[in-house]
Amino acid sequence: MCGIVGYVGKQDAWPIIYEGLRRLEYRGYDSAGIAIVNGQGDLQVRKTVGKVHGLDETTIANQLQGSVGLGHTRWATHGRPSHENAHPHIDCQSRIAVVHNGIVENYLELKQQLIDAGHSFYSETDTEVLTHLVEEGMEQGLSFQDAFRRMGNLLKGSQAISAVLQGHDSEICALRLGHAGGIVVAHADGQAIIGSDLPALLPLLKAESNAGQVGFLETGEMVVLTTAGVQYQDLDGNPIEKEPRLVTQEEVLVDKAGYQHFMLKEIMEQPQAVASAMRERVNFETRQVVFPDFPLTSQEIADLERVVLIGCGTSLNAALVGRYLVERYGGLPAEAESASEYRYRDPFIGPNTLVVSIGQSGETADTVAAMQMVKDKGGRLITICNTEGSQASRIADGSLYMRSGIEVGVASTKTFVASLTILNLLAIFLGKSRGTLDISTTQELVDGLTKLPRLMGDLLADIAPYKQVAHEYAKFDKFLFLGRGIIAPIAYEGALKLKEISYIHAEGYPAGEMKHGPIALVDNAIAIVALAPKDSLYDKVANNVKEVKARDGCVLSVLTEGDTQLAVDVDHALYIPDAPEHVLPMLVTVPMQMVAYHIALLRDRDVDQPRNLAKSVTVE
Ligand code: AGP
Repeated sequence: MCGIVGYVGKQDAWPIIYEGLRRLEYRGYDSAGIAIVNGQGDLQVRKTVGKVHGLDETTIANQLQGSVGLGHTRWATHGRPSHENAHPHIDCQSRIAVVHNGIVENYLELKQQLIDAGHSFYSETDTEVLTHLVEEGMEQGLSFQDAFRRMGNLLKGSQAISAVLQGHDSEICALRLGHAGGIVVAHADGQAIIGSDLPALLPLLKAESNAGQVGFLETGEMVVLTTAGVQYQDLDGNPIEKEPRLVTQEEVLVDKAGYQHFMLKEIMEQPQAVASAMRERVNFETRQVVFPDFPLTSQEIADLERVVLIGCGTSLNAALVGRYLVERYGGLPAEAESASEYRYRDPFIGPNTLVVSIGQSGETADTVAAMQMVKDKGGRLITICNTEGSQASRIADGSLYMRSGIEVGVASTKTFVASLTILNLLAIFLGKSRGTLDISTTQELVDGLTKLPRLMGDLLADIAPYKQVAHEYAKFDKFLFLGRGIIAPIAYEGALKLKEISYIHAEGYPAGEMKHGPIALVDNAIAIVALAPKDSLYDKVANNVKEVKARDGCVLSVLTEGDTQLAVDVDHALYIPDAPEHVLPMLVTVPMQMVAYHIALLRDRDVDQPRNLAKSVTVE
């Protein structure tokens, strides 16, 4: 969602906040703004519509000097992207600046009360009420801190908020309510930074020889930052002792490493992501899965009755693959559900139901809310997540971390294959623990997984075929992706990748369902992407491809190397190596990502930050 940065210290705040905003831009890029308390103690605000670099276009004119300030990069919820709606928002007297991530659910009611009390509003945002609430508290004689805390106590909804007050000894206040967004805090050597996420803290971690102590705000907590230090308190004003966590630069470093885009870098990192996901979870001598971090006892695993996998977007597609894996290898009934729907259903969840949430960020509002519902109903809860300390990891009984490193491209890539790797390990582990998989089958499955980093590396060694196919297919404005069985969710993921980064309409469909409706779409203006690796349903997909060709459809297929049967029927083919069925989803994913990436490049799209999207969606 939105990104917040705040700095108080002895250096010029502008470059530090600007750098932090650039690093948090993946959270939203509809508009950006910075407020600085300058050397005279005055509050000055600069805003831009669009990306953060807009703030820098006239650096010399725009850059404000002063060592206290706040910044914000916005993903619009209330009010279109515009200068007026950009944060920071200021009060009537231009003394208080506020930045906000989340939604004030009772803002209409609060706004009316404030208007009745004489406050005037200039934006369409819910955020602006926060500024006026702090102002109102100060008009009633409260200190800035107390007025800020009072404002927090008046709000409904889930959010992170920060504010700064003009004046020579300015302080920054921040608080967190609910699960819509985190606040991280670092303090060193008379300087303090807050951010929505760790990359904003990099300037202080640099200074602290590659590492630093970081505080994570919990819901209902507030922090006050001054040059003298950082104070945590609850929303009644009681001090809180907070145990900081040591964070290294590697955890927060964001760098394209010479690639044109983060997305391409992250696709290329996939062999490593798969290997990292397996690290310490596979005993390579016995070829068994060992889950040292598994939160259920052997008896609890034996007692399980069903598994429900939940997630949103790409993570939902991973859940759909997980359903096949858990049914086939885990020996348990499995369902996969969109978290945004599941949270509003009334599903049966007993003590022997294991719910597995999947999420790169661990902060997706719908996923976190669905997890909370599961917890309230007494289900067992595991999260497969890439972000340590995230909401998901705090709610779950246990976390199986992806360990993929930060994923910056808004389109998820390496965390998708990491999720699939962990879902494989989980299914094998459950099957072995429950006695539905024997040792030799487990070993064969593990062998398949251990070859995956090499096979993926081979697929990524030569990108020429993907570029060539992208040139052939970039002209199409409609795509239908087809797959069956364990590969059907990869068709959905292929369509999602293409639509989100190229803005081309693309639909993913189970190939067997095509004859029940979508085949009516087939003509020479639609591209059909048929995923047909050699697996147990290959012959069925081959028939579906023939049905398309009989209607003059244009077919791009992903086939197993050496396939001579379908290769002659389709218009273009990309190849993956022969591999066992459980690892095929990860291999078939690679050509999908690469073709989507190159089509988006040919269409001159903003690959890393596609329009209207944000990396983590922390509002409903
Ligand atoms: C993936 O390319 C998308 N950006 C999006 O669908 C994403 O997967 C979804 O918003 C869920 O995010 P999460 O994995 O962080 O929960």
